[in-house]
Amino acid sequence: MKKWKPLYGLLASISILFILYALMKNYMIDPGAEGFLSHKTGLKRELNLPVWLNVMYVHVAFACIAMAAGLLNFSNRIFEKSRKFHRINGYVYFVSVLLVVLTSGYMAPYATGGKISSMGFNALNMIWPLITIIALVQVKKKRIIRHRNWMIRSYAFCFTNMLIHLITFLFHQGFGLIYVTSYTIGVYGSIVLLLVIPDIIIRTMPLRIYYGKETGLTDETSV
Ligand code: HEM
Repeated sequence: MKKWKPLYGLLASISILFILYALMKNYMIDPGAEGFLSHKTGLKRELNLPVWLNVMYVHVAFACIAMAAGLLNFSNRIFEKSRKFHRINGYVYFVSVLLVVLTSGYMAPYATGGKISSMGFNALNMIWPLITIIALVQVKKKRIIRHRNWMIRSYAFCFTNMLIHLITFLFHQGFGLIYVTSYTIGVYGSIVLLLVIPDIIIRTMPLRIYYGKETGLTDETSV
């Protein structure tokens, strides 16, 4: 339990800062996504800008809701106070994930980097909901630790955009690769990291997080 607190604090700080950054960047600083769209040259399909932008606004809004809802549901204090909130907020997270993936499905064919990047995004569009559905099935079967672990795996995907841009920045600015190639590396690099990092966290985290007198849960066998 003690080990979890600083980790949750770190997670909360990163998530809150990123939500604020995403909202400001996409709705206030660059609402026309001009910086991002300037890298889209030689698209195979014509991009309908007003539609793309509106889809992107919905995408960012639900991505931020998913990030915030997921963060709240990892809080032990909130979980211990109200299981009902955890459940309702869990469905808010689930619906938000579906809407992020749905909007992503519209944007994927126009992805920076062409077909290869599109394929990476389409893989994400299948992996993320699948992992989230597994997490939901586990809790329906009352396998609490498995539910927690699959939710950690699912929540990692809220950091997709952040990771893509960090990796793109590293390869573009750091190693001097052209932006488009760096972006494609960012898409695939983030898929790999988002599948690997949660499992490292799961392995190093204390098992007893949801167990104890406060929660009344005793399902220790379902790991
Ligand atoms: C949850 C956190 C996420 C946030 C805050 C977010 C935000 C954004 C933003 C702002 C854009 C516009 C371009 C940019 O500035 O990057 C974008 C594009 C896109 N996002 Fe997300 N996104 C998130 C997660 C995801 C996930 C999990 C997927 C896939 C399942 C996804 C798929 C896409 C696609 C396909 C595009 C278009 C890329 C392109 O045109 O090259 N996003 N996202």
